[in-house]
Amino acid sequence: MAPRVSIVLPTYNERGNLEPLLAQLLPLQCRFDLEILVVDDDSSDGTAELVRQLAHGEPRLRLVRRVGRSGLASAIKEGLLDATGDLAVVMDADGQHEPASVERALDTLLQGDLDLVIGSRFHPEASIQGLSGRRETGSTWANAWARFSLPAAYGQLTDLMSGFFALRLEPLLPLIRAVDVNGFKFLFELLAVSRGRLRTAEVPLRFQPRSYGSSKLDLAIFWDFLISILHSLSLRLLPRRAISFGLVGASGVVVQLALTQALMQGAGLGFERALPLAVVGAASSNYLINNALTFRFQRLRGLKLLQGLLKFLLVASLPVLANVGLASAFYSFVARDTLWAQLAGILVVFVWNYAASSRFVWNTP
Ligand code: GDD
Ligand code: MN
Repeated sequence: MAPRVSIVLPTYNERGNLEPLLAQLLPLQCRFDLEILVVDDDSSDGTAELVRQLAHGEPRLRLVRRVGRSGLASAIKEGLLDATGDLAVVMDADGQHEPASVERALDTLLQGDLDLVIGSRFHPEASIQGLSGRRETGSTWANAWARFSLPAAYGQLTDLMSGFFALRLEPLLPLIRAVDVNGFKFLFELLAVSRGRLRTAEVPLRFQPRSYGSSKLDLAIFWDFLISILHSLSLRLLPRRAISFGLVGASGVVVQLALTQALMQGAGLGFERALPLAVVGAASSNYLINNALTFRFQRLRGLKLLQGLLKFLLVASLPVLANVGLASAFYSFVARDTLWAQLAGILVVFVWNYAASSRFVWNTP
C-alpha cells in the first residue's frame, strides 16, 4: 500500500504562490496517499480564504488557521502534530523550494530507512538563486555556529537552517512535541532536542527566487536564532528569555560605559555625577531593546510604553541605587578604577531586574 504522506506548508501572506505550488504537488497522489496541510497565521492577503475555497474541490487539502500570528517554527510544529501521514514533508510555500525535491526526499527517506532527510541549499549538487549575497553569507555563518552547538553526530549535515525536510512521523512525534517554538528554525531545534539520535541524510535543493510577496525573516528572527545557539550551548539549561535579557543587559553595559566616558570627557562631569545619569540612560536603552526583542510578544506600545518605562525604572531603581552605591563605594574604597567599579554593580542588577521586570513590567511569570 502507498505510504501516507502529509505535506506541511506554513504560510503567511502567500496567496499568490499557493495555487501554482499545489498544482505541482497534487500529482504526487499517484504514488502516495497524499494530504496537504496549509498552516496559515491569519494572513491579511486572503491566503486562508483561498485555501478554504480550493479545499471544496480538493479533499486532500486541509486548512489549519491560527489567529494571532505566532511564527514559522510554531506553525511547522502545529502542522506536523496535526498531520496524519506515515511520512511528512515540510517546505516553504513561496515557491523557493522546488516541488521536484519532494519526491527525491521521500525516496531517500524510504530507501535509506532514515528518520529525517534535509533539503540542503549547501549540498555540493545544490544551487541557490534568489538568496542575496548577504543572506547567503549569513546562512553560511549561521550554519557554522549551529553545527558547533549541535551533537557531533550531525557534523556532516550542510544545511541546519533549511526550511525543507522530510521525516518519519510516528517515531519523531515525541521530539516534535518537545521542540521549543520560539524561533524561525524548526529544523535546528529538532536536531538539538534529538541529541544526535536521528538517522539523517541530505538531498540537494535548487533554491529558487521567491515568486510573489516578500521574506518574513527580520531582525527579531535573527535574534531568536542567536538565542537558540546560546541556549543550546548552555546545554538548554539557561532559559531563553534570561539569555536574551542578559545579552540586552550586556549592551546596556556598553551604553553605560560609553555614556560615562562621554559625560566625563564631553561634558566635563565628575565620575560621581556622570555615573547616575549613565545608569539611567543604559536602563532606558535596555528597556526599549527588551521591549522590542525579549518581550516582543508582550510588547508595550504608545502610552503603555511610557508607563512601562517608568515601571522598569522603578523596578530597576532598587538595584540601580545599589549599583550606584556599590560602584561608588568600590571606586572610593577599593580601587579608583571606573571599569571594575561599574561591572561590580551591574552584576547585582541583572538577577533582580530579570525576575522583577518579567513579572511587573511585562506581566509574564
Ligand atoms: N504560518 C506561518 N507563520 N508561516 C510563516 C511565518 C509565520 O509566522 N513566517 C514565514 N512563514 C512562511 C512563509 O509564508 C513561507 O511559506 C515560509 O514560511 C518561509 O518564509 P520566508 O519568509 O519566505 O523565509 P525566507 O525565504 O526568508 O527564509 C528561507 O531560508 C531560511 C534559512 O535561511 C526559508 O527557506 C526558511 O524556511 C529557512 O529557515
Ligand atoms: Mn522564502
